[in-house]
Amino acid sequence: TYEERSKLFTIAEPINGDLTGKAVLSVEQFSRSDLDRFFEEADWMKRIKEQNGSTDILRGKILVNLFYEASTRTDSSFSIAMKRLGGEVHNIVGVQFSSVSKGETLSDTVRVLSGYADLIVLRHHQKGAAAEAALAIHKERTKQGLPNIPLINAGDGVGEHPSQALLDTYTINQKCGGLDDLTVGLVGDLKHGRTVHSLAKLLSLYRNVKLIFVSPESLNMPEELVEELKAKGVQMSVAKDINEVANEADVWYITRVQKERFESEEAYQAVSGSYRVTLDTVASMKPTAIIMHPLPRVGEIDEAVDELPQAVYFEQASNGMYVRMALLSGVLGKW
Ligand code: CP
Repeated sequence: TYEERSKLFTIAEPINGDLTGKAVLSVEQFSRSDLDRFFEEADWMKRIKEQNGSTDILRGKILVNLFYEASTRTDSSFSIAMKRLGGEVHNIVGVQFSSVSKGETLSDTVRVLSGYADLIVLRHHQKGAAAEAALAIHKERTKQGLPNIPLINAGDGVGEHPSQALLDTYTINQKCGGLDDLTVGLVGDLKHGRTVHSLAKLLSLYRNVKLIFVSPESLNMPEELVEELKAKGVQMSVAKDINEVANEADVWYITRVQKERFESEEAYQAVSGSYRVTLDTVASMKPTAIIMHPLPRVGEIDEAVDELPQAVYFEQASNGMYVRMALLSGVLGKW
């Protein structure tokens, strides 16, 4: 809504070449030139990891990882990225053991943590929670006359997952030699999948990008986002089955059905298992196509596909750490 967007943009400043001290809430903060710069920093972080394992540019800095929802990749890669940069991490990943279980609000929780940490990474089940938290921190710090503590959105319900979209575009750029003139197929739960929402928005920054949406009817891409992409000149088409259009895309981005977002087990079962990438599907793809997945997968891609050169999802997950090293060093003013 307009109100939500206004609130977001009071706190989510455009990056404009400088991440220092900024909350990272949405990919809408990034321009194409911000991404170019960001990919260079991620390449640099990859070299540091490969050559030395770690560095000490964030020595003395402390990250709080505050996760209200389950995670393997985002939580671990942010933690390990911080440690590889010489910083320290305090994890609150089972909020049942924090005062949240006594009824403390998100706003109070982050206001307190911002008094202890240099940076907060937040995953929450509600869309807009990251903006709400960043706003609470900003107000408290301003009241105390202190500089802002950056907050990174690590996934807010069905909203956005900006660091995932940064690692996804980084991987596509690496594998396809650029992001212009690509056809990208987005497959699965396009209604609830925050990774596809953020990725589609970032891809709209590039020239002649075509998106193919493949999802069960009830899990279509949200109409509001489709309209936004249309206004930006993105060409879009819809297909019922990936096998009908397998040869059309340069990138196939597969996602799972987000069971935790359904109101009932019956509603989930009605769409679960309705699509699957098999060796036959891949045989119909362009030989140069790449297959991505934000993971976890729950049966959408046959394990036999993992052996094929087109399958890049584990490399994609590895890129997450370099991208998050770049993000952490950027918001803490080390670019
Ligand atoms: N892709 C992703 O966000 O994975 P996790 O839920 O394991 O963090």
